[in-house]
Amino acid sequence: MFPQRFICHSLKGNRDQGVFMDLKRYEEIIKFAIDKEIGSFKFYTRASQVAKYSGARELFIDFSKEEEKHQKLLEEITLEKIVQLKIETVPNLKISDYMVDVDFKPDLSYGDILRVAMKMEERSLKLYTDLKETAKDEGMNKLFGFLAQQEAKHKYGIEKKYDEDILR
Ligand SMILES: [Fe+2]
Ligand SMILES: [Fe+2]
Repeated sequence: MFPQRFICHSLKGNRDQGVFMDLKRYEEIIKFAIDKEIGSFKFYTRASQVAKYSGARELFIDFSKEEEKHQKLLEEITLEKIVQLKIETVPNLKISDYMVDVDFKPDLSYGDILRVAMKMEERSLKLYTDLKETAKDEGMNKLFGFLAQQEAKHKYGIEKKYDEDILR
């Protein structure tokens, strides 16, 4: 499953500098991120099935599709794809910062589903921010920066929904 092309691209720049990049580590990191994305995809798919409001259902479906795209991006990453990624800044409402974790159960209320989603996105954002900070490779740095921005966008989308539908 792990793209061999990507390993070659990522290693090119570093070999000359005499830095030995641990292939296993790259593989593990990408595999871990892919599993996270699959988890997020499953979460939004389930959430869209139990959502009672059409606006929320659409949001969950949209996000499930985006999580699936992240999974594919990580599975099929090449240097060319990394170059094409556009990174924009995303506002931060910081609502989830003040929330505690809630476990997903089938009978969760709408507010609880949004709370679970917020914490999940917060963790995804943190994962990619940490990976970006520790990435030694420029391509990896950009890839994780892009994914961090994508998850920041999700976190913002969920927080906005929570603000509109629950807090008001
Ligand atoms: Fe994602
Ligand atoms: Fe996400």
